Amino acid sequence: MADSRDPKGLLDAGERLDADGLRELQLERLRASLRHAYENVPFYRESFDKAGVRPDDCRALADLARFPFTVKGDLRENYPYGMFAVPQDRIRRIHASSGTTGRPTVVGYTENDLSMWADMVARSIRAAGGRPGDKVHVAYGYGLFTGGLGAHYGAERLGCTVIPASGGMTARQVQLIQDLKPEIIMVTPSYMLTLLDEFERQGVDPRGTSLRVGIFGAEPWTEEMRREIEERFAIDAVDIYGLSEVIGPGVAQECVDTKDGLHIWEDHFYPEVVDPITGEVLPDGEEGELVFTSLTKEAMPVIRYRTRDLTRLLPGTARVFRRMEKITGRSDDMVILRGVNLFPTQIEEIVLRTPGVAPHFQLRLTREGRLDALTVRAEARSGATPEIREAAAQAITTAVKDGIGVSVMVEIVEPESLERSVGKIRRIVDLRPH
Ligand code: DLL
Repeated sequence: MADSRDPKGLLDAGERLDADGLRELQLERLRASLRHAYENVPFYRESFDKAGVRPDDCRALADLARFPFTVKGDLRENYPYGMFAVPQDRIRRIHASSGTTGRPTVVGYTENDLSMWADMVARSIRAAGGRPGDKVHVAYGYGLFTGGLGAHYGAERLGCTVIPASGGMTARQVQLIQDLKPEIIMVTPSYMLTLLDEFERQGVDPRGTSLRVGIFGAEPWTEEMRREIEERFAIDAVDIYGLSEVIGPGVAQECVDTKDGLHIWEDHFYPEVVDPITGEVLPDGEEGELVFTSLTKEAMPVIRYRTRDLTRLLPGTARVFRRMEKITGRSDDMVILRGVNLFPTQIEEIVLRTPGVAPHFQLRLTREGRLDALTVRAEARSGATPEIREAAAQAITTAVKDGIGVSVMVEIVEPESLERSVGKIRRIVDLRPH
């Protein structure tokens, strides 16, 4: 059937909705999801009751603002299964977030949830330029982390051939890419850089592989990093976003033809952006904390879940769905240095623009007396002379001072001396006494 929204016949039914159809579907699903949470999860019943709202009070999408937020601590307090809304025998799979501090967060999926998730990742890979028959090398970690298995079933759902490499064993990854000739790679951007080093170590031209598209996410990365990866590998690099509490990867995806931010799959995940301090809902276009309400999840509905990710909502372009701007950072990763807020992504932009340094850096926080100090440790490119290194240190210091408004120390370290990522990279090393 000819459809003006979809001349090539590539979109699924959700993507072919028009704006009115989408809003109507969202409201219907939102009301059902609020009811499902209220009726089946004691935590939501209590929190709605305390706030004096009932699911039926949601008569328009804007009414969602009357409902209470859910935060990570709520999930921890209800560890492991307290947030589940279906009996255990309907749970087909469990994932868990790494949980660097305290208890991990456990999430569960019914059969339908797994199927919806696969659909959303399939939709994401298609938006990234993947097509049935493509070979997809998945180098996100498999296991409790949602990256590997999430990407895996989505790629299968689209009709691709999956190469489930998982993270690690970097030398073998390079071999697999050369031998099995995947068109698509799904991996964290930081691990892609680790792979780049390995290609060079093996004397293999990273621009000469079969790879056409990289689908990168699970951590913040910048336009400068996109440019670096696209140039060094001769591929298109696009952004995929998600979090385990909402589903995993495949909550939002950048389209390869526009590369203008990530379309949120709003027919399943309803976004709001709120003021991180007051919790007030902000109009589209304003930056704040991203909040999600699941519209169709069965096992673990989330209502107004605060992601701590900072971004803004923008109108749809390549799809009817709204977009979110590339994430600046998480409120957790924000460093406050002498009253100035700083995100690792801001340093990434600067480091990647500086000649003579490699795209590897680390931020070291220390305390001198009563003041916090930050050292940017960036790696010299091999062959960079002492003069080039000195100039790079100067350039970074000045760019941070001028661009962010704070003084930092800069150390240019030897090539290959900083720890490499095999998954999500840790940018901040906090050496302050507690
Ligand atoms: O990282 C899911 C995922 C796997 C997404 C693979 C994309 C690719 P969690 O471990 O629960 O889930 O971590 C979620 O990671 O709240 C963000 O802070 C960050 N994050 C995920 N994708 C992006 C992205 C997975 N594209 C947390 N840009 C989120 C920036 C991202 N940050």
